[in-house]
Amino acid sequence: MIIYDSKKRCIHLQTKHSSYVMQVDNGYLLHLYWGKRINHYLGSRPVIKAPRSFAPYADPKHRGFSLSTLPLEYPGYGNGDYRHPAYAVQLENGTTVSDLRYSGHIIYSGKRKLRGLPATYVEKNAEADSIDLMLEDQVTGLSVILTYTVFRDFDAIARTVRFENKGNRAIRLLKVSSASLDLRDNQFDLLTFYGTHNDERNMDRQPLAPGSRVIESTRGASSPQHDPFFALMRKNADENQGDVFGFSLVYSGNFRSQIEVEQYHTTRASIGINPFTFSWKLNPEASFQAPEAVLVYSDQGLGGMSRTYHQLYRSRLARGTYRDRVRPILINNWEATYFKLNEEKLLAIAAEAQKAGIELFVLDDGWFGRRDNDKSSLGDWFVNKRKLPHGLKGLSKRIHDIGLAFGLWFEPEMVSPDSDLYRAHPDWTLHVPGRPHSLSRHQLVLDLSRADVRRYLYQSLSTILSDADINYVKWDMNRHMTEVGSALLPPDRQQETAHRYILGLYELMERLTHAFPNILFESCSSGGGRFDPGMLFYMPQTWTSDNTDAVCRLNIQYGTSVVYPAIAMGAHVSAVPNHQVGRVTSLAMRGAVAMSGNFGYELDLTKLSDEDKATVKKQVAFYKKIRPLIQFGNFYRLCNPFTSNDAAWCFVSPDQKEAIGFYFSVWFNPNLVQKVFHFQGLNPDFVYENCANGDVFSGDELMNSGLNVPIEKGDFHRYLWWIKKVE
Ligand code: DGJ
Repeated sequence: MIIYDSKKRCIHLQTKHSSYVMQVDNGYLLHLYWGKRINHYLGSRPVIKAPRSFAPYADPKHRGFSLSTLPLEYPGYGNGDYRHPAYAVQLENGTTVSDLRYSGHIIYSGKRKLRGLPATYVEKNAEADSIDLMLEDQVTGLSVILTYTVFRDFDAIARTVRFENKGNRAIRLLKVSSASLDLRDNQFDLLTFYGTHNDERNMDRQPLAPGSRVIESTRGASSPQHDPFFALMRKNADENQGDVFGFSLVYSGNFRSQIEVEQYHTTRASIGINPFTFSWKLNPEASFQAPEAVLVYSDQGLGGMSRTYHQLYRSRLARGTYRDRVRPILINNWEATYFKLNEEKLLAIAAEAQKAGIELFVLDDGWFGRRDNDKSSLGDWFVNKRKLPHGLKGLSKRIHDIGLAFGLWFEPEMVSPDSDLYRAHPDWTLHVPGRPHSLSRHQLVLDLSRADVRRYLYQSLSTILSDADINYVKWDMNRHMTEVGSALLPPDRQQETAHRYILGLYELMERLTHAFPNILFESCSSGGGRFDPGMLFYMPQTWTSDNTDAVCRLNIQYGTSVVYPAIAMGAHVSAVPNHQVGRVTSLAMRGAVAMSGNFGYELDLTKLSDEDKATVKKQVAFYKKIRPLIQFGNFYRLCNPFTSNDAAWCFVSPDQKEAIGFYFSVWFNPNLVQKVFHFQGLNPDFVYENCANGDVFSGDELMNSGLNVPIEKGDFHRYLWWIKKVE
């Protein structure tokens, strides 16, 4: 609900459990409150406007009204506020001062689409209310519309910003945040993610300190190094209780999160497109739409915040035929064959997979052009008949005849210098004239800001997707941008290239997913290098990491789960010794870790012993039983592998009638401490039966007293409890 109090000029955004209050004062939008729901906001804690040293003021009669000290909602630069602004502009005369003042607002039910950008959505207007707040700069004609949406069913507020040039001179946007707000104290810890290829989404929690913290990507992708997300956590907040404020950007390119603690111990938090090497020329009458930021408040700790993101992103960000369907269990040939694939080998793996009950066969890299290693052929999306003599059509038919669906890998955004495409169109890459290209994995980035490049990609991909019977696409992207420039953009628009690339990527994905609604798309960037909400809007699942080692995956999946739901997390059982880290873990351990996400296999099944084949068959059958629970249940993190030797979590069905708990013990500890597994999220009044042995316990018993974790020698053990309500 959105309430406007015209006397106090307060705007109160209300979700089921949270309130967010702003006030218009002297034309400026002040931030008054965000936190636990207030049923009736009557004006508590007004902003005190005491005169302070070094505090500039525009009105000589109001020395205390200084932008340098006020809690602001979308601040600019140049008239007294010395903190980092939410936006920055440059006028034709070279100056960078602007002054946005409130000029009106409209409240409406529902939520508008963002043209050309991914965003959360509603299916019925009754699901949300929105407000457009209009701000104008009288001198330049710059008009800014701040849009806030509150959801009926989620404690989330979606924010976005649109810039319109209503003046008669061009304005250059130098910085555009999607959300910025000034929290009125600094008693927070900052939670962020960091990592690298094979080691994505490590968690870092630090107390806020005076000055600024910046978390960002300058790589042209959201990146495995950082995540377009941060949370501010009250000092006493933990996994299960306390106030947590999440900021998540629905964007796949360069982003910046900035958290600034200033002189009077307040906190400015912002998230948006990274202003580094970004600018956008806004001609008269033109507009610029910022990506969406999704803000989530929880008084149930980090776990409560995560469950809100999970439900919102699973049901009102992800789209398409597969949004509400259980996802197929797949077998991917990458770690089984790498580039040494041929039809016979693939069919043998598929036949074995079919016997195990696996549902989808995915043909990974190496099926096209002359691609026998990673040095050639990206861009030449024509089947390699030497490897696949019957073409994709023939192979997909044979795979379907075996009884599996068929999926295919592409890396559409890239081109190899050794390719027919590059030889024909060297200017189709991101590049700067007169400078050599920097290679990465022997490849270059296609300039997706160009319509002709997108046309080529649409044409070549859709030809393949229409010709063969293809049910799934893995969309990979394996390098970051360098020499960022576009041959078609004029000099004064070169700094738009990286954002135009992302807009082009979104347009291409929109067209393809729309044209092939029955294909399940999975995004990938050397694993989880572009695991972000923007990609989930087009592709409802992502390959979480190239690192398939079960122990490393505990941390990677735990960190990923802070924002993203299990259904979105590709998780595969691979061979041992593990190809990325050389570790040997049991098939049982690998299976349980992968079953905690969107389950599949990535190894040569034909090489397994009969015993292991039988285990795989049992795992597949078991996952099919618990799949709805994992993919649509509520997720609770119970033991943190970043701070302990073990990991644990559980999934609970929305009606609380079924749950599954996982406990992972990493290193054996000779002191034989008895560990206990406590479920969460059960109905305390229900009685549950352990499906494995018929033991019966009450819900409150399982949550409060808990279950003994078996003590077993050796490393890397897993324990599972699948329970159902006794009717
Ligand atoms: C990186 C991906 O993450 C892998 O799964 C695999 O598809 C390779 N690329 C293929 O080149």
